[in-house]
Amino acid sequence: MNSENYISKIWQRGIFENRVVFCTGGSGDICSSQVRALVYLGANACIVGRNKQKAERVAADIANARPGANVLGIGNVDVRKIEALEAAVSKCVSTLGGIDFVIAGAAGNFLAPFVQLSTNAFKSVIDIDLMGSWNTVKTTVPHLLDSVAKYPGAGDYEGGRIIFISATLQYTGVPLNTHGVVAKAGVDALSAQLAIELGPRGVTSNVIAPGMIQSTEGERRLFRNSGIDMVRRVPTGRLGTIKDVNNATVFLLAETGDYVNGTVQVVDGAAWRIGAQVTTGVEYPASVLVEPKILKL
Ligand code: HXC
Repeated sequence: MNSENYISKIWQRGIFENRVVFCTGGSGDICSSQVRALVYLGANACIVGRNKQKAERVAADIANARPGANVLGIGNVDVRKIEALEAAVSKCVSTLGGIDFVIAGAAGNFLAPFVQLSTNAFKSVIDIDLMGSWNTVKTTVPHLLDSVAKYPGAGDYEGGRIIFISATLQYTGVPLNTHGVVAKAGVDALSAQLAIELGPRGVTSNVIAPGMIQSTEGERRLFRNSGIDMVRRVPTGRLGTIKDVNNATVFLLAETGDYVNGTVQVVDGAAWRIGAQVTTGVEYPASVLVEPKILKL
């Protein structure tokens, strides 16, 4: 894949040399591309996902971004299971020598009105998005502290950085996504807490909040078939690209992000500011005034 499709030419190659990124949801459209950009710029990486074949295939593909790159793909890792993450982190550290950057990107979503949302459905998304993010940082932070010790930073970029992939829908709330909104609000709060508690130890924690990013699973699941011209809803006049998200990622992890901690980097062309959130195309409130249909609580 031509690097110009996923990363800006302004970043200097080699800036992430010797750094290792550990990424959950790393087989997905957004996170795999973030990792590809970091690998292109010098990093090695470990991506984890539920599907073994997919994680291994995507890792091999990402490794093509740079000759000599070492990219590990570990499957059968459900972020809801902390033991699975613990094992993956351990494999990453023993194979690649440590973890300098963490991207917590695993997420699950679908559209459903509250009256058709079972307790288990709500819990599934909370468990993947929020508990999965918690499990990711709980298992990786010890290695991020080692990274800070290794790269103490003296005007240069450091190690010990966390990025959570969140969303914008929780800023206003949206119909049909109570599970996602509540989960992502929790992810944002978790990141802010880590910025406060780990900042004194040299770790930074920030959120990237992608808006409507084209050619992603979020787009396919949440708004591609809405029948609405989403482009006209974005002040910047286009849908986002994965490259937009990747450039924000590099900004936060490179020297440019040295003093950026506890922030939310919204990459959405200002869409949320005019309420242009994900939608089904079904008018509100008709979209929520549907027949209650939960077979079990
Ligand atoms: C109502 C639903 C549902 C739907 C699932 N459920 N889909 N309820 N409407 N459309 C319910 C099920 O009936 C079940 O509840 C419960 O959710 C768990 O479903 P399972 O299939 O058993 O769970 P699991 O296999 O763990 O799958 C989790 C999932 C699934 C979240 C439901 O969609 C998934 O794995 N998604 C992963 C990939 C993904 O979604 N990526 C998109 C990320 S986009 P019952 O009561 O029947 O047991 C994203 C962007 C957001 O996050 C922001 C964009 C701006």
